[in-house]
Amino acid sequence: MKLSSIRSEYDGESIESLPADPHVGAELWLEHALKVEAEATAFSLATTGADGRLSVRVVLAKEITSAGVTFYTNGHSLKGLQLDKQPVAAGVFFWPKQHRQIRFEGAVTRTTAAEADEYFASRPHASRVASAVSNQSAPLAHYHELKTRFEKALAEYAGLPVPRPPHWGGYIVAFERVEFWQGQPNRLHQRLHYDLQSDGSYKRTWLEP
Ligand SMILES: Cc1cc2nc3c(=O)[nH]c(=O)nc-3n(C[C@H](O)[C@H](O)[C@H](O)COP(=O)(O)O)c2cc1C
Repeated sequence: MKLSSIRSEYDGESIESLPADPHVGAELWLEHALKVEAEATAFSLATTGADGRLSVRVVLAKEITSAGVTFYTNGHSLKGLQLDKQPVAAGVFFWPKQHRQIRFEGAVTRTTAAEADEYFASRPHASRVASAVSNQSAPLAHYHELKTRFEKALAEYAGLPVPRPPHWGGYIVAFERVEFWQGQPNRLHQRLHYDLQSDGSYKRTWLEP
């Protein structure tokens, strides 16, 4: 399949007025993305294995704070195991309707158990049951095995609270390096890079597109 003739034109408002704090800028962009994009909170998350190989997958951001971007997952999954050994990650939000991306890299920490409990409890009952029965990223002989496990657990938990599995929880990717990218006409895209300094402030640098 040849794709070389496919071309999109990009444009957007100038990003020169982005704030000094990239967390605030990311919140502003996310607020806007939520109004116009499908799955605005989805971002690609890259982690590394002990052998130095990269893995990437999409997860959903559940919060942006001054600590970074929070997502939730099963700690026994590939990403969970990788993050146990190498607690660093890179992420990228892509918002195609606005011709924007935000990429970020940093250390990964865990939310508290209380925060994970609170978010887990806010999820729909069936999602909680699914998280409780799924051994995320483990081999599965037949898909129907999972369905059967799920249906059985649904019946068992009918009308009952579903406890959060202890290995299921929140992860926060810190904003140590962040870049806002805004598509512009003629491929003269804008790239504003933020580098976390030891005093907690960010050094900002424009990068060539
Ligand atoms: C739109 C979308 C949202 C997703 N959100 C999550 C999520 O928030 N948490 C999660 O663990 N997996 C999520 N997934 C599934 C992951 O992409 C991935 O398949 C799963 O986490 C296993 O990844 P791993 O084997 O690398 O650990 C999502 C997938 C898509 C396409």
